[in-house]
Amino acid sequence: MNQKQLFVLLAILCIEMSTISCNGGFESFLKKFKLNADIYEKTYDWSSFYQIADTFIQNRTTPGLTVSVYYKNQSIFSAALGNQTYPGDALNIPVDNQTFYDIASLSKVFGVTAATMRLYDQGLIGLDNLVITYIPEFNNHNKANITIRNLLLHNSGLQPDLDFTLFPQSTLIPSNIKDAIYHIELQYPTGTQYVYSDLNMVILQEVVQRITNISLDVFLKLNVYGPLEMNSTMFNPSPLYVHNIAPTEFDNVYRHELCHGIVHDETAWFLGGVSGNAGIFSTANDLAKFMNMMLNRGEYINSKGKKVQIFEPETVDLFTTKATNVPYPNSRALGWDTVPIQSVLPCGTKFSPLSFGHTGFTGTTAWADKEKDLAIVILANRVYPDRNHSGTASLYFRQDTYTQICTILGY
Ligand SMILES: *[C@@H]1O[C@H](CO)[C@@H](O)[C@H](O)[C@H]1NC(C)=O
Ligand SMILES: *[C@@H]1O[C@H](CO)[C@@H](O)[C@H](O)[C@H]1NC(C)=O
Ligand SMILES: *[C@@H]1O[C@H](CO)[C@@H](O)[C@H](O)[C@H]1NC(C)=O
Ligand SMILES: *[C@@H]1O[C@H](CO)[C@@H](O)[C@H](O)[C@H]1NC(C)=O
Ligand SMILES: *[C@@H]1O[C@H](CO)[C@@H](O)[C@H](O)[C@H]1NC(C)=O
Ligand SMILES: *[C@@H]1O[C@H](CO)[C@@H](O)[C@H](O)[C@H]1NC(C)=O
Ligand SMILES: *[C@@H]1O[C@H](CO)[C@@H](O)[C@H](O)[C@H]1NC(C)=O
Ligand SMILES: *[C@@H]1O[C@H](CO)[C@@H](O)[C@H](O)[C@H]1NC(C)=O
Repeated sequence: MNQKQLFVLLAILCIEMSTISCNGGFESFLKKFKLNADIYEKTYDWSSFYQIADTFIQNRTTPGLTVSVYYKNQSIFSAALGNQTYPGDALNIPVDNQTFYDIASLSKVFGVTAATMRLYDQGLIGLDNLVITYIPEFNNHNKANITIRNLLLHNSGLQPDLDFTLFPQSTLIPSNIKDAIYHIELQYPTGTQYVYSDLNMVILQEVVQRITNISLDVFLKLNVYGPLEMNSTMFNPSPLYVHNIAPTEFDNVYRHELCHGIVHDETAWFLGGVSGNAGIFSTANDLAKFMNMMLNRGEYINSKGKKVQIFEPETVDLFTTKATNVPYPNSRALGWDTVPIQSVLPCGTKFSPLSFGHTGFTGTTAWADKEKDLAIVILANRVYPDRNHSGTASLYFRQDTYTQICTILGY
């Protein structure tokens, strides 16, 4: 039963039972039943969102998408549009709000950054601690001064990725890949530039795992996804779910097959699927629930009505506030990004400077605005059947859908 139905029911009860005092007006009635008047009194017209999303589906920017919106601490919109693939292709079946998407780099924030936030809460990790105190093997080629904070800000000096074409096929196993990262040369002096790097998050995952002594996926399930009741968020999803996982790209370089239920990102794939940089599969509703918890500064009311503090309020503030003490133009907070410095904006044109979020290569986006108390998650598989087919439309897809949702809400 939604709020509207609940209200109608309560109103009928109220009129029927004349012994109950119904005066005091609509506002006080809503307050009495703890309903949010501000939200309730507006019914939003989502038709312009459906229209714009449909255009992008029709012109093959993405075969489909799912969206979930929380506004003022309530889930106000959830929708699934289009199909898993394009007409004429296998798997051309409609997506629904249980469809799993490979969220790619959103894993950096919903995964290893979330784990780091938990360890920070518990005093088990220090942002200015040196990485080499956790990973002695990393102490070479001038990497001794890299801190946890450098990894989270993407200013460590590490290059964006490894070039796997330089590895003989048989050597592409996790231990070799980690060794290669431990012994890599710095690309630029630590702290002097912003270079977004998957390797930062792989190293951070290793730090987290050496602190907790358990695999990142297990730690997250126990400490974040379990308490937050995110039952549709996981690394290496079971084959049982494959029918409802949106496929990503035909990988002609390494896998020679369609990535369907296996992680698209090569680094995460070669590391066994559980990685700090990518690997999570999830639904828009699960991720939007997480974003709303972040807007509530770590607080979550679970299905039993019990209050659970997923992160300490100060930890949420710290990790989602843009770092200013860096010698280069910066939009980054810790792990999280804020409104980026670029012409086409993934969070649309109406998100305030008090916003935080991230994007994923596969076509996924999660952003929240503290000022508006608004969280929007849009998951898509725009890399199907290949990463290049939609060109820059995939950038406008993000900007236009986010802007349109803000417009619908009256901004
Ligand atoms: C698809 O439609 C959107 C929205 O109208 C537009 O911005 C984009 O350029 C179009 N892309 C292509 C490839 O036609
Ligand atoms: C998911 O979709 C189903 C079927 O359309 C609907 O009944 C359900 O309320 C939706 N759930 C959420 C959380 O949006
Ligand atoms: C989605 O799939 C359904 C059922 O296979 C089909 O009828 C519909 O035309 C498809 N729509 C798109 C946009 O691919
Ligand atoms: C680390 O920082 C110290 C103090 O600034 C400096 O003396 C040292 O050369 C740096 N080490 C490396 C490997 O960059
Ligand atoms: C992990 O193992 C190390 C070494 O055995 C131990 O010192 C540390 O307390 C363990 N950490 C946790 C969180 O159990
Ligand atoms: C998660 O829980 C919801 C609601 O109980 C259920 O509909 C859904 O099937 C579950 N998803 C998974 C992957 O178990
Ligand atoms: C958010 O909503 C929940 C009920 O769903 C409520 O218990 C909680 O107090 C609200 N939090 C804030 C910050 O308004
Ligand atoms: C995508 O385009 C780039 C640059 O044009 C090209 O190097 C790459 O091979 C293409 N990738 C795929 C999967 O088509």
